[in-house]
Amino acid sequence: MIQLKTPAEIAILRENGMILASVVRKVCKEVAPGKTTIALDQLAERLIGKAGAQPAFKGYQGYPATLCTSINSEVVHGIPSDKRQLQEGDILSIDVGLLRKGLHVDTAVTVPIGKVDDTVQKLLRITEQALWLGIEQVTIGNRLSDISHAIGSYVEREGLSVVKEYVGHGIGRELHEDPQIPNYGPPGQGPRLRAGMVFAIEPMVKTDSEPTKLLDNDWTVVTSTGGLAAHYEHTVVLTQTGVEVLTQGGE
Ligand code: MF3
Ligand code: CO
Ligand code: CO
Repeated sequence: MIQLKTPAEIAILRENGMILASVVRKVCKEVAPGKTTIALDQLAERLIGKAGAQPAFKGYQGYPATLCTSINSEVVHGIPSDKRQLQEGDILSIDVGLLRKGLHVDTAVTVPIGKVDDTVQKLLRITEQALWLGIEQVTIGNRLSDISHAIGSYVEREGLSVVKEYVGHGIGRELHEDPQIPNYGPPGQGPRLRAGMVFAIEPMVKTDSEPTKLLDNDWTVVTSTGGLAAHYEHTVVLTQTGVEVLTQGGE
């Protein structure tokens, strides 16, 4: 069942989204060659605590960190490590969630480390654009799979492929709530979108078209051919006046 959020809950989600956006902005500023992913994780954990919030991922099904830091062919759920130094030419997906006043928000971004090839730039640009095309479908009366279709059809038109094994989701009292939001599929299916729905929309896009694999740490998802992957995510709310992106802005 899709939980509709009340205006009071939406007000808290708005604050939480601002806090998370500002955490991401600060973490991204620290991304540079030579940095370890654990250093970014520690910074994020400190900033989230300072804002009176809790990391949403730490302890979630036993996940050990505040961030997911996924590099190059890692798709999602890369675990921050003191042994992993960023290098010029890498791409890094940073995924982070927080819990405050009983409500979760979740966001992700992929950033280049220094200079990257044009094909890599394109992967990032298309993935971010796919997210925005998905968000654009969040209007009253549209159906859930209109979001999925907008994302998947655009990515395929651009010659890239979406990850099918992992999906976007409802979010609120729980990090993952109904509905699941695949990043592909036909339009016009599933429940109609209504005011009070809150979604984490999160296209994961890769340069190869093979199914992903799970590393034997049981967390990290990688492409099976070494192809690169990107991931962008925003938490959004649908209100009477339209869609609002919660995890952007802030200071
Ligand atoms: N942030 C992921 C998502 O976007 C979920 C991370 S699960 C965790 O849905 F266990 F790694 F935290
Ligand atoms: Co996320
Ligand atoms: Co998510």
